[in-house]
Amino acid sequence: MNQLRCCSIYVTLKYLLFVQASLVSACQQDKYFRSRNGITCCKLCNPGEHVEMECRDGQATVCKPCTTGFYSDVADNSKTCTSCTKCEQVVAKNCTSTNDTQCTCEDGHLCANRECTKCVKSTVCPKGKELLKLGDFDYIYECKNCSTNTYSDTEGGRCQNLTVCEKLGKKETSPGNSTHNTICGPIAPLPLGNPESLAPYLSVIIVASPLLLIFLISCLWKRNIEYITPMTMNQMENMLSCPLSKEEKGDLPIQAMDNKASKQSLSVIV
Ligand SMILES: *[C@@H]1O[C@H](CO)[C@@H](O)[C@H](O)[C@H]1NC(C)=O
Ligand SMILES: *[C@@H]1O[C@H](CO)[C@@H](O)[C@H](O)[C@H]1NC(C)=O
Ligand SMILES: *[C@@H]1O[C@H](CO)[C@@H](O)[C@H](O)[C@H]1NC(C)=O
Ligand SMILES: *[C@@H]1O[C@H](CO)[C@@H](O)[C@H](O)[C@H]1NC(C)=O
Ligand SMILES: *[C@@H]1O[C@H](CO)[C@@H](O)[C@H](O)[C@H]1NC(C)=O
Repeated sequence: MNQLRCCSIYVTLKYLLFVQASLVSACQQDKYFRSRNGITCCKLCNPGEHVEMECRDGQATVCKPCTTGFYSDVADNSKTCTSCTKCEQVVAKNCTSTNDTQCTCEDGHLCANRECTKCVKSTVCPKGKELLKLGDFDYIYECKNCSTNTYSDTEGGRCQNLTVCEKLGKKETSPGNSTHNTICGPIAPLPLGNPESLAPYLSVIIVASPLLLIFLISCLWKRNIEYITPMTMNQMENMLSCPLSKEEKGDLPIQAMDNKASKQSLSVIV
């Protein structure tokens, strides 16, 4: 009977303590922590410090700075600071009370883990391959084939996209592969319908029209040989140049050339 009473008092007390603890449970985060008895909120120690003594009734937390070779980069209730990381090869930044050491590796070496506390000799990948880092915490390196449509034409280089000649409006003269880029030729002829595509036809007209003129004139010459006078010559010139200039209106170079050609051929005849 006595035992049971004792037990129930104990349970009630425990319960009351629990309720009280929950009432103050909202210790301000990032600044306070719950003391070990669960009742009070104690101030955290700043970065660069560790807890020397927890707060007690009326007494604040006692903090102490980290000693050399140790650091604490967060405000916490830890009783110790963390040991500074040791680098295998090169210290990039010395450890401070609030920041861990930052490591790096010597030339020709690569980090063998995320913290770079260890290093491995770097591999020079041949053409057509590139170095690939594998792993999340510990790293290993492998030469990997350049994927489709990429190439590396230097040792130790990275895979780059192959040039797509069509995108540059050029024709491919040599296809690319994993070790050589595509080689593009000069600007490809544009498809029909573009003004530039008329160029071949225009050149044919330019070459052919003086010949056509000569042919025409020689026909006329044969027919009207007796009647040719300086007067009829002028008429003939007018007659010939007028329809032609209509036909090829808007194309000055041709017209100029035709006129020149017709005069030349006429002067030859005369
Ligand atoms: C780190 O500290 C040492 C001496 O403690 C010094 O010789 C070295 O230059 C420092 N390194 C950097 C990166 O500051
Ligand atoms: C060093 O630590 C402080 C406080 O934690 C932080 O504000 C700062 O950015 C850190 N510096 C470096 C270089 O990581
Ligand atoms: C890498 O490419 C070479 C030839 O370029 C081929 O023989 C080899 O099988 C490829 N390796 C892999 C893993 O695809
Ligand atoms: C390479 O090509 C891929 C797809 O073909 C594209 O997503 C990527 O942006 C290209 N990279 C460069 C550097 O042009
Ligand atoms: C890649 O292309 C180059 C140039 O076109 C050629 O010399 C070489 O043999 C090709 N390599 C392979 C693996 O096909």
